[in-house]
Amino acid sequence: MPLDKQINPQIKKIHPYIPGKTIEEVAQQNRLKPAQVLKLASNENVLGPSPKAVAAVKESCKRLHLYPDGSGKALKIKIAQQLKVKPNQVLLGNGSNELLEFVCKAFVRPGDEVVVPEITFSMYNAFATLAGAKIKKVSLTDYVLDTNKLLKAVNKKTKIVFLCNPNNPTGTVISHESIKKLIRALPEKVIVVLDEAYGDFRSGKGMAQSQEFLRRENVLLLRTFSKIFGLASLRIGYGLAHPKLADLLNRVRQPFNVNGVAQAAACAGFADKSHQSKSKQLVRAGKKVLEKKLKELNLLVLPSEANFVCVRVGNSKKVSEAMQKEGVVIRPLGSFGLKAFIRITIGTAAQNRRVIKSLKRALKK
Ligand SMILES: Cc1ncc(COP(=O)(O)O)c(C=O)c1O
Repeated sequence: MPLDKQINPQIKKIHPYIPGKTIEEVAQQNRLKPAQVLKLASNENVLGPSPKAVAAVKESCKRLHLYPDGSGKALKIKIAQQLKVKPNQVLLGNGSNELLEFVCKAFVRPGDEVVVPEITFSMYNAFATLAGAKIKKVSLTDYVLDTNKLLKAVNKKTKIVFLCNPNNPTGTVISHESIKKLIRALPEKVIVVLDEAYGDFRSGKGMAQSQEFLRRENVLLLRTFSKIFGLASLRIGYGLAHPKLADLLNRVRQPFNVNGVAQAAACAGFADKSHQSKSKQLVRAGKKVLEKKLKELNLLVLPSEANFVCVRVGNSKKVSEAMQKEGVVIRPLGSFGLKAFIRITIGTAAQNRRVIKSLKRALKK
């Protein structure tokens, strides 16, 4: 097939991202009404978006005929003021996914290497491979990344090191001290991407502490509006970096990469502290109950600081299929390399009760 020969060989090495099924798909396949389907598979905010973000979306629709602010000035200023950084340290992306793409495009050339944890979010691997990198995987130790082990995988060819904290799909965290030590030990030319998509759910200082790394030119912190802010559908994420790194990454982006509706919603959502703390509280309380119930079933539950739990259930494909038939959608983790595990997004109290009941039935089958 001629196309096969024409295509960039790196593209043959990657597979399309397989997202979880939509509520409508699950409903149709199992002869249910969409309202009967409970989706706890993609770590979305079960409270939905902030009402203030929704109001901002409505208002922004009056300007749909205009190009958005290509520099995202208002949102950058809002983020910068709140996080005590400079606006020229803030990057905006069409989801934080796009910022991952930028960093790979900007720094990776064919033949370079990147280092990633063996079990983590798949897009690090995908974007780096597309850019021509060889991927070096570091296995987890007791489901946590050992930064000393990671350091050993770094060599002269290494361009980027990816860290996911808390890690998707395990929910486990690497301590601030370990990351600090790692960054100090790495050559300054190696870019460190610290993906904190789930950082907003952490207890303690968490994300605020990692901002101390921004003194370095080689650190990119990635965050998203898709999780605690409940704006996954709008596709918007942000990054924080040293102004020099931010400037380089900004050269890679398209002129209007983040749409105006998303910018308006993110501005309003970012300011709505009450929605953020309600969401965090719901996750914290729900996680406690879920963990307890799961442990009562004698299942291994990994310690999670994210808005999901990672649980060992045996045959995760079989279990998730049985649950899906009842309209309960969770994520089997075979594609992440954890065949025996599922990932459950923390829901409301009633949703958590339903997921446990459904899981109990599935385990008996
Ligand atoms: C660890 C991690 N990073 C980044 C993303 C991408 O988020 P988004 O592109 O929606 O901002 C996700 C999405 O699930 C994720 O789990």
